[in-house]
Amino acid sequence: QTIESGSFQWSAPSNIALVKYWGKKDNQIPANPSVSFTLNNCKTITKLVFAKKEKQDIFSFDLLFEGKPKEDFKPKILKFLERIEIYLPFLKEYHFTIDTENTFPHSSGIASSASGMAALAMNLMSLEKALNPEMTEAYFYQKASLLARLGSGSACRSVKGQVVVWGNQANIEGSSDLYGVEFPNAIHDNFNNFQDTILLVDKGEKQVSSTVGHDLMHAHPYAERRFEQAHENLDKLNAIFESGNLDEFIKVVESEALTLHAMMMTSMPYFILMKPNTLQIINAIWKFRSATKIPVCFTLDAGANVHVLYPENVSEKVLQFIKDELVGFCQNGQYLCDEIGSGAIKL
Ligand code: PMV
Repeated sequence: QTIESGSFQWSAPSNIALVKYWGKKDNQIPANPSVSFTLNNCKTITKLVFAKKEKQDIFSFDLLFEGKPKEDFKPKILKFLERIEIYLPFLKEYHFTIDTENTFPHSSGIASSASGMAALAMNLMSLEKALNPEMTEAYFYQKASLLARLGSGSACRSVKGQVVVWGNQANIEGSSDLYGVEFPNAIHDNFNNFQDTILLVDKGEKQVSSTVGHDLMHAHPYAERRFEQAHENLDKLNAIFESGNLDEFIKVVESEALTLHAMMMTSMPYFILMKPNTLQIINAIWKFRSATKIPVCFTLDAGANVHVLYPENVSEKVLQFIKDELVGFCQNGQYLCDEIGSGAIKL
């Protein structure tokens, strides 16, 4: 099959890890398995326009962000194309225009690398499928996730499924270090439409990138124990997803968030990404939970923002609490309401 030109468009969501990926080996192989909820509203929409070119000696592409040229992302995309060329040998045959927009405000401190790399990987797989129409849907999604992983590790969890596992884990069938898979075991109704309200505490650029953070796990004094703990916590979550036990869920999820930040504080060099308001919010959530017994908890990414997680049936009360007591800790009072979603969508 040869194709001269055309275009595809995909949206891909962000995701929030419950068991955190922090530390990696060569080729974006995770040091431990992770599991995440896929989000629904925070996403990247990417259009890929492609046209065959005469010379096929170099990668050739233009990058647009919201319709305007975006030069500063070019080195990252070039590195990505170089990494995935062995999987998509046709890349140098085309000139690409990659036009991207996010549904969440830019510089909100929300990492767009997971949704952005996933959206680009989906588009490139659509071209691969157009060239090789016989591929199965299962292969399509698996390879899309593998490509996304090579763009940004956590992006492989933004391709398909509501709950996604990435990394080998003994009792999770089909799990792999190479790509994310939809969580294959039972999930209790308590997790249906689980809510994630993202409190924007600090919208500035992070002082330490996640690339540097992952690297610091190499010489980290607690790394080995941490990697084992991630396996243990994934085992616990496996049982919790089946039982629906929200008290146990909260313990694992909050401990994972604080452990992630503890790894940052105990690396050399050490650093702190939480802000005073991050801690204010955590304390307010604990106080609210112990007073009301409402099963609401927090998790954190590699940044100061707080993800507030809770079941749909307590939404009204939690949102009221957020408005009354937490909005004051957010930069310009900003927060984003999201919930569990099911992955990338072809537009
Ligand atoms: O995908 P990266 O390399 O940006 O790493 C993301 C790491 C965390 O967001 C902190 C945790 C995770 O599992 O998503």
